[in-house]
Amino acid sequence: MAQTLASLILSKVVCSVLLLCHVRSASVLYDLDLTNDGPITTEAQATIHSTLRMKDGGNSPVSDRKYHFNWVYAPLTLVESSGHGADSTIIVTSPFPGVFPVSVQVMHADCWLCQTIARNLTVLEVSEFIVGNLSITQTEDHDKVDSRSPTGALTRVSFLLHDPSNYFKSASFTYKWDFGDGTEMTTEYPTVYHNYPTVGVCTVHLEVAAEWRQDGSGMEQRRKMVQKTGHFSAALELMDAVRGINIVGSTEAHVMENLNLSLHIQGSLPLHLCWLIKTECVPLDRDHCHLVAMNATHYNLSHVFRDAGQYCLSVRVENGVNMLQSYQEIQVRPSGIHPAFLVLPCITLLSAMLGLAAYVTFRSSAQQKDLVEVADFDFSPTSDTSPSGSKWSCRQMCCETCCLWPSQESCETIREHHRLLRPLREPVKMYTM
Ligand SMILES: *[C@@H]1O[C@H](CO)[C@@H](O)[C@H](O)[C@H]1NC(C)=O
Ligand SMILES: *[C@@H]1O[C@H](CO)[C@@H](O)[C@H](O)[C@H]1NC(C)=O
Ligand SMILES: *[C@@H]1O[C@H](CO)[C@@H](O)[C@H](O)[C@H]1NC(C)=O
Ligand SMILES: *[C@@H]1O[C@H](CO)[C@@H](O)[C@H](O)[C@H]1NC(C)=O
Ligand SMILES: *[C@@H]1O[C@H](CO)[C@@H](O)[C@H](O)[C@H]1NC(C)=O
Repeated sequence: MAQTLASLILSKVVCSVLLLCHVRSASVLYDLDLTNDGPITTEAQATIHSTLRMKDGGNSPVSDRKYHFNWVYAPLTLVESSGHGADSTIIVTSPFPGVFPVSVQVMHADCWLCQTIARNLTVLEVSEFIVGNLSITQTEDHDKVDSRSPTGALTRVSFLLHDPSNYFKSASFTYKWDFGDGTEMTTEYPTVYHNYPTVGVCTVHLEVAAEWRQDGSGMEQRRKMVQKTGHFSAALELMDAVRGINIVGSTEAHVMENLNLSLHIQGSLPLHLCWLIKTECVPLDRDHCHLVAMNATHYNLSHVFRDAGQYCLSVRVENGVNMLQSYQEIQVRPSGIHPAFLVLPCITLLSAMLGLAAYVTFRSSAQQKDLVEVADFDFSPTSDTSPSGSKWSCRQMCCETCCLWPSQESCETIREHHRLLRPLREPVKMYTM
């Protein structure tokens, strides 16, 4: 009993191994590509194409032997079949909708009872409706809609018919659009633009109708109208376009100092930022800039300049809707001058000043009488207000002259000279001793 069971198992194992070897040997050499251009509408035609290739050779052609392609396509109707070498093509159609498997087996054509060297299977979808794709994209094409609300989103809604056999060549189409926001529209062209007042998820429904005259088979039937329809819908999450880039922060920096700028961006996330600082403003592409995937609408940028001069910060911000570039000029000054550089000119200036003061003192002691009269006895009515003005002008002059601490003596001297030079402006009382 146990012996019979063992031999049964053994024979099963042998069988499976043999079968596996057979399948392996059959499929080890060849690949059989099998494609169809479906889905199709009932009555339209689908092309199913098959190509035999060597497995590891990639694109290396198979040998010149003849191959037999054995197609199984029932219940589809065969319209045409053709083949050459390692390629075979069939064209099929169906009056009924459904999902139909189509298989093909390939064997050498020149031998009897040859085994299959490759096989494959494809599934063809046949629909009673029009086949196609409805797509929505958000666009920034300002030419299409002039009066855009600032928060609105312009969309391009487009239907693409899938008709590889040109079945609808003589049909006229009608498109009924429902934009989901209460707006409906009927057109004869497959692309429309619609402006949504707010961002968020939008859903578009489309009803396509195709109508054409078909030649009847008999004389009495003449030509009859044929109509096919299709229902499609598509949804899209609308985003705010990038509307502005605000660069906040100082646009002046010093060499070897951190320049901190903050970028504020108006637009829906996710945003992709790309920035570059160069001596001139440049239009940016993704390859030559600092790329940042932004998680928020602001970004802090920090940069250290090695050389003084004029720079330009080029910024490019992008989201799923549009792209915006902005530029900011940056002035980089040499870092603060070292005190040591000031010492020498200051010493020179100071000594010049002291020399001048000494000279003036010497001169004034020589002409003391004349000067004392004018300088010490000033009782003019404007003397309460004028000193501030004259002092200012004096200090200004002093500062222009020496740029450091104006020497009091020289100031006095200059003031005195001013007084002496402009006797007519101020009513100066005259005294005689
Ligand atoms: C069947 O065809 C498809 C499409 O060409 C291909 O990707 C797949 O590898 C094929 N299968 C076999 C077993 O050759
Ligand atoms: C519809 O579009 C999708 C994505 O672009 C594509 O994969 C699909 O094949 C298209 N279908 C038809 C019928 O064109
Ligand atoms: C910029 O920020 C850094 C810290 O991130 C700070 O150390 C530096 O002082 C800042 N620079 C300026 C000019 O504010
Ligand atoms: C982005 O924000 C999400 C949540 O808002 C957070 O989980 C994630 O860590 C952030 N990523 C970065 C790079 O900051
Ligand atoms: C950017 O800088 C501002 C101050 O300038 C600070 O309040 C903010 O938190 C910073 N943001 C990030 C992400 O570091």
